[in-house]
Amino acid sequence: MNRKYRKTVIAGNWKMNKTPSETKEFMTAFKAIMPKGRWCDIALCVPAVCIPAAVRAMRETRVGIGAENCNANPSGAYTGEIAANMLTDAGCKYVIIGHSERRAMGETDADINAKVHAALEAGLIPIVCCGETLEQREAGITSEWIAMQIKLALQGVSEEQIRKVIIAYEPIWAIGTGRTATPEQAQQVCEEIRTVVRKLYSSKHARATSILYGGSMNEKNAFELLAQPDIDGGLIGGASLVPEKFVKIIEAANQPTM
Ligand code: PGA
Repeated sequence: MNRKYRKTVIAGNWKMNKTPSETKEFMTAFKAIMPKGRWCDIALCVPAVCIPAAVRAMRETRVGIGAENCNANPSGAYTGEIAANMLTDAGCKYVIIGHSERRAMGETDADINAKVHAALEAGLIPIVCCGETLEQREAGITSEWIAMQIKLALQGVSEEQIRKVIIAYEPIWAIGTGRTATPEQAQQVCEEIRTVVRKLYSSKHARATSILYGGSMNEKNAFELLAQPDIDGGLIGGASLVPEKFVKIIEAANQPTM
C-alpha cells in the first residue's frame, strides 16, 4: 500500500452467495463491529437482488455497495441483464468487471472493455479483474498475459477516466483454492500492472491507481499482502462472507506504509 498517493480499498465479492434476508443479517452484524478508522475505502459487491437491502443497511456508513457484473448496453432487449445506470440508480458505487469466473462463462476482453466504458459513463467505479491460469504461470507467460488483459480492458479509457478505475489482480489458481499467491508473487504482478498503466498513461496516473490482490486473501495473510508497496487492497471472496473475517482484513489495512 501507499496511502500517500492512492486509496487503499478492501472490497468483498460475495459471488452467488446470500439472499436479501441474509444480506440484512450480515450488514447488521458487520456494522456492529466495523472499524471506525478511515484508513481504507470499503466496498461490498453483492448479488443484484441483494443490492437494495445492502444499500439500505449501509446508507449512513462509509461502506460502498457494488454489483458483480453489468451489461455494456444502456438499455434494450437483453433479457435478464442489468445496465450500469440501473446499478447507479439502485445506489451502487462499484461494479466488478471481468472476473475470471465470468470470463470462464464466455466473457471476452472486448466485452470487458465495453463494460468498463458503460460503468464509467454511468458514474460507477469499475473494479477490473485480470489473472493468469496455473498453466500460464508455469509456462512463464504471466507478465505478458496480464499486460494484454489490462491493455484490452482499458482501451479507449481516457486520462480523466483512469483515475476512477480500480484494478484487481486475481491469479485464477488462487481463487477459492486456499492457495494464496505469496506476497512476493502478488507484489511482482501488481508492480507490473502499474508499469502497464504508466506506459498507457503517465507516472502520475500509475502512482494514483489502486491495484488490489485477490485470491484466497483472508484474515491471516492479509497483513503481509497489504504490506507490499504495490498491493493497495484486496478483492475478497470467501472471507468477505463472514463479518468477523472481513473486519480483520480491514484492520490489516491499518498498518504503516512507505
Ligand atoms: P476468494 O475469491 O477470496 O474466495 O479466493 C476472490 C475472488 O474471486 O474475488
